[in-house]
Amino acid sequence: MTAATIPGLNGTDDTVPTKHAELLAWVQEVAELTQPDRVVFADGSDAEFERLSNQLVEAGTFMRLNEEKKPHSFLAQSDPSDVARVESRTFICSEREEDAGPTNNWMAPDKMRSIMNELYRGCMRGRTMYVVPFCMGPLGAEQPKLGVEITDSEYVVVSMRVMTRMGQAALDKMSTDMPFVKALHSVGAPLEPGQKDVPWPCNDTKYITHFPETREIWSFGSGYGGNALLGKKCYSLRIASAMAHDEGWLAEHMLILKLISPEDKVYYIAAAFPSACGKTNLAMIHPTVPGWRAETLGDDIAWMRFGEDGRLYAVNPEFGFFGVAPGTNWSSNPTAMKTIEAGNTVFTNVALTDDGDVWWEDLENQPDHLTDWLGQPWTPDSDRKAAHPNSRYCTPMSQCPTLAPEWDDPQGVPISAILFGGRRKSTVPLVNQAFNWQHGTFMGATMSSEQTAAAEGKVGSVRRDPMAMIPFLGYNVGDYLQHWIDVGKNADESKLPKIFYVNWFRRGDDKRFLWPGFGENSRVLKWIVERIEGTVDAQSTPIGYVPTASDLDLEGLDVDPNDVDEALAVNKEDWQAEIPLIEEWLQFVGDKLPTGIRDEFEALKNRLNS
Ligand code: GTP
Ligand code: MN
Ligand code: MN
Repeated sequence: MTAATIPGLNGTDDTVPTKHAELLAWVQEVAELTQPDRVVFADGSDAEFERLSNQLVEAGTFMRLNEEKKPHSFLAQSDPSDVARVESRTFICSEREEDAGPTNNWMAPDKMRSIMNELYRGCMRGRTMYVVPFCMGPLGAEQPKLGVEITDSEYVVVSMRVMTRMGQAALDKMSTDMPFVKALHSVGAPLEPGQKDVPWPCNDTKYITHFPETREIWSFGSGYGGNALLGKKCYSLRIASAMAHDEGWLAEHMLILKLISPEDKVYYIAAAFPSACGKTNLAMIHPTVPGWRAETLGDDIAWMRFGEDGRLYAVNPEFGFFGVAPGTNWSSNPTAMKTIEAGNTVFTNVALTDDGDVWWEDLENQPDHLTDWLGQPWTPDSDRKAAHPNSRYCTPMSQCPTLAPEWDDPQGVPISAILFGGRRKSTVPLVNQAFNWQHGTFMGATMSSEQTAAAEGKVGSVRRDPMAMIPFLGYNVGDYLQHWIDVGKNADESKLPKIFYVNWFRRGDDKRFLWPGFGENSRVLKWIVERIEGTVDAQSTPIGYVPTASDLDLEGLDVDPNDVDEALAVNKEDWQAEIPLIEEWLQFVGDKLPTGIRDEFEALKNRLNS
């Protein structure tokens, strides 16, 4: 079909639900390039979800799960080659290479556009092109953060409805000249007339490309979440981090948690940990300290800006959870389990039970027989995993039993503490408070974590991941760190969140975890709150303020007191060994490394040597 024959695309009849001239021109241009059989505007309705999920079932992409076990839920099993974000195929195409920086792949925008235009030419033949309007963050915001994803994947349309405020309501927010982020996605698998489709169309050639200056996203060849649901990592972190840099706010890879003390005082906490290091778990924590309660606002992304009172307010731009399935179970994260069980969940690459339910590693009630994520029979004797380690559930946030009532408030919530953290088996204590904002920025800037199985690289080797943003920065990491320092400089420090560094993953000689983690992390959160209130002590160490075991509420905790001491220990020799590793990383950041970070590094070395 040529664009001229797409009914209503010139905006003159009511088959097209908008008069937004720039949007219509873009839709027309993309349709001419990609040549779909038809163009459909997604409205986000129940009827549309029903129609598309039925279509996906017919196509073999979706399996409908047992209605009694997982109501109104589906399982998708992807092509085995299309199971994760592809960092090596992810590009930041700023005009100047230095604006992408040393941590990103870069290509000149013109060159990338000409490569991708050739890939996009005719790439939607035989398919439907969906125009998917969406809003990141509350629709009621003064300036809603709008986007439109054009995609040829029904899986994407259905998932975008769970993960974002998608459809007519978002389109209605777009007055005729409102700016929006253009996000173009194709699985890159055109169909010739009569050609039968495969359950998971994708292409061996993949590009996940961002043009931060023009706020555009071009994605090709993958149907997987982080590569294809463009509102999430692509918009809300990579493009939004560039917007935030220009406009003086922060777009971060952080959960948002509401903590309520026994006196009913409320504290909002944001925390940045790298992938698979416990954000979703902490966001849904069940405190074990009597009288303390927690509620959830977000598990992956926080947008933070200053309110009129000078405090930093956070909003979760997302509308659903896209969580790692393996390891999630009724004891590790009952809140996630309840959210999922409420239905309306799309699972990807988990295993299927014989009675039409899902299963993954560490979930209770391991069945004797399964169909694994590759579609093969599986038993507990099989020497491979039943679910892919990066298999995910995609489920509406509104179903979360611990959801904070203010989750959809466009004002956001005032943040009292920011936590950084990673996975370190040695050196890094359980918790450590920064001396001030700049020192906290240094802690975030030099954040480190042992590689998990979730990404390429040697498992266990330590890599630096500033603010857990390495895969998600839309611009130069040096400029990003300067931006953090500037945020502090331009604010009243007494109103800024206090910054802490946590490590739930320190191990003893026999490799066991020294700290039980999960719900017991509420003991650390309690100490953090008491630090904010100034009611608890800490030791001043070379790396920051660290509690002794007697500063923590350990009542009823069933662990060896020596383990707690070991978890809290700051050993000078260990930290001296850390210095060359930090030096190497700061060298890598290069010329744009802020003086403030360099100063903090020198100060740390001096404290360690005195
Ligand atoms: P993304 O969603 O990929 O950004 O990752 P995430 O940070 O949300 O990771 P998630 O919460 O899914 O990480 C879960 C992993 O961390 C699982 O292997 C958990 O068992 C482990 N984990 C979470 N909290 C703790 C803890 O307090 N202690 C220990 N030992 N492990 C934990
Ligand atoms: Mn998560
Ligand atoms: Mn994440």
